[in-house]
Amino acid sequence: MIVVTGATGTVGSRVVAELRERGAAVRALVRGVEPREGWDAGVEQVVADFADPASLDAALAGADAVYLLVAVHPQMAAHEHNVIDAAVRGGRRPHIVLHTAAGVEQRPDGVRFLTAHAEGYRHLVASGLPWTLLAPNGFYQNFLGMAAAMRAGRLAVPGGAGAVSYVDARDVAAAAVQVLTTDGHRGAVYTLTGPDSLTHAEVAARFGAAAGAAVSYDAVEPGDALAQMLGAGWDAWRAGGMVELYGFYAVGDAGAVSTDVEKLTGRPARSLAGFAAEYAAVLRGGPGN
Ligand SMILES: NC(=O)c1ccc[n+]([C@@H]2O[C@H](COP(=O)([O-])OP(=O)(O)OC[C@H]3O[C@@H](n4cnc5c(N)ncnc54)[C@H](OP(=O)(O)O)[C@@H]3O)[C@@H](O)[C@H]2O)c1
Repeated sequence: MIVVTGATGTVGSRVVAELRERGAAVRALVRGVEPREGWDAGVEQVVADFADPASLDAALAGADAVYLLVAVHPQMAAHEHNVIDAAVRGGRRPHIVLHTAAGVEQRPDGVRFLTAHAEGYRHLVASGLPWTLLAPNGFYQNFLGMAAAMRAGRLAVPGGAGAVSYVDARDVAAAAVQVLTTDGHRGAVYTLTGPDSLTHAEVAARFGAAAGAAVSYDAVEPGDALAQMLGAGWDAWRAGGMVELYGFYAVGDAGAVSTDVEKLTGRPARSLAGFAAEYAAVLRGGPGN
């Protein structure tokens, strides 16, 4: 039995669907049971919350492996701890595949999302459970949330001039499924990136080329980006974390390209240009795909 947390999200929903395609027994940790697109009837949905240890004990009962993905949240390190501790209490020593983020091993000062994941990673290693670490870079899918601005010709983020090896969340899910369903991954750290290291000017150019209209990069100052996010209703912790993460990107610390996606899945990581072409209709203002 493989338990998937974060199961309704960008990566987790695909992990669940692909595990079922491989015939695995899957339990999805959810906060409300309902039909989910792409999941077959064989997916067991169990209601639990990262903040409720008793619910996690029930959700993890009988697990052989756990895909541990928590949402970005002020308590995200505690949430990772809670799942790991429930796995320890269960006594079956499941394999924990911890989904973190690229840069986690560098433990950079002042990047709260990475600090939280590093704390979860430390706790996992100390738990004595078998583990694998996945460290994906930023997802191409994040840019879909910026489609309206790109339709107006502008990609505005506080990414400076640094290059980032962004990755397709579908490749992250496929790599995760491989780790969850095959042997030989215990104690391994996989850095999941796309095939290219791109500045945000290059990212903008690729989306523009796919849409058939110029998109230019506007390197927003961090303070202005923070004010814009707060003005758009983001909570302060998350907005502050995004500015820190873009600062990490701006100095080039997220630019390294890894071949781990191809090593795990057997096929090259998807390119941003290909992703942009797939979503060209969204960029042009159509219904998308
Ligand atoms: N976005 C990126 O570019 C990027 C890149 C690298 C790493 N990461 C890491 O990836 C993770 C986010 O992945 P994602 O984008 O796939 O997530 P996501 O789409 O934001 O989904 C979050 C998932 O967590 C669940 N969840 C939230 N709070 C919960 C709680 N208290 N108890 C139980 N479940 C809860 C959500 O369930 P509901 O449906 O009930 O809300 C949902 O299934 C983060 O750890 C982030 O640091 C992100």
